[in-house]
Amino acid sequence: MNQPSSPLSGKLVLVTGAAKRVGRGIALHLSSAGARVLIHYGSSEAEARRTAEECGAAGMYRANLESVAEITQMFAAIERDHGRLDGLVNNAARFTRFHPFDITEADWDFIHAVNLKSVFFCCQQGGKLMRKHGGGRIVNISSLGGLRPWAEHAHYCASKAGVIMLTKALAKALAPGITVNSVAPGVIPFGALDERAEAMVRATPAQRAGTAEEIAEAVAYFLGASNFVTGQIMAVDGGLSLR
Ligand SMILES: NC(=O)c1ccc[n+]([C@@H]2O[C@H](COP(=O)([O-])OP(=O)(O)OC[C@H]3O[C@@H](n4cnc5c(N)ncnc54)[C@H](OP(=O)(O)O)[C@@H]3O)[C@@H](O)[C@H]2O)c1
Repeated sequence: MNQPSSPLSGKLVLVTGAAKRVGRGIALHLSSAGARVLIHYGSSEAEARRTAEECGAAGMYRANLESVAEITQMFAAIERDHGRLDGLVNNAARFTRFHPFDITEADWDFIHAVNLKSVFFCCQQGGKLMRKHGGGRIVNISSLGGLRPWAEHAHYCASKAGVIMLTKALAKALAPGITVNSVAPGVIPFGALDERAEAMVRATPAQRAGTAEEIAEAVAYFLGASNFVTGQIMAVDGGLSLR
């Protein structure tokens, strides 16, 4: 008897910032679910190569996501190499901590160029490629910080709240062929927690931090779901957004 095939079997999915940490976890999980994964990276070439080898990736693409020209070139290269794109996971982001009175224009632009502007232009370029071949699935990684205010991360929170609204607006604009959803992670540590993160974990109803695998499972759900699921934000945060 044939095994039922996964909804991701053979799907070509680009994961941005896939060399390390959450992005790497997403790439490995999607690959184990049968997807053909494309690895995007910025500066972490060696780690990207290791992730690509481990998930038998269909390709590796370097782009500085601050640059719309580099984003456009990356999607043109994907079209040239593969002729299509079925899924896009906008995972790459930056995170800094400042009191709002100390944030400079450069600090603001540093965060927004990647966390919000690049997500929009990746959706635009990826969406155009998906539409040429019948449609696709976009998953934007936002954050609990886009749902709840964090005093020393006002700039980051604003960028992630922007990702959440972008997800909803693009879900309307790109329907019915392309769905756009978002996963909003809570605390996903990779090493020792600072005092602030420790306090967040203590306040989490699940009484623990989360893992990249748990974020990846939510991403895989949206990538495999029908087009009746769009514009949705799934917090994967152990219930912390409920407090
Ligand atoms: N970890 C958490 O606790 C947590 C909590 C809430 C939300 N999130 C969200 O989940 C996602 C993944 O989190 P993470 O902690 O794994 O992220 P991360 O390690 O801070 O960043 C992921 C990757 O983004 C890429 N990136 C950043 N700026 C770039 C640029 N200009 N051009 C190209 N690539 C760039 C980097 O790739 P290279 O290394 O190749 O340059 C980096 O490895 C992010 O969207 C984050 O905001 C994470």
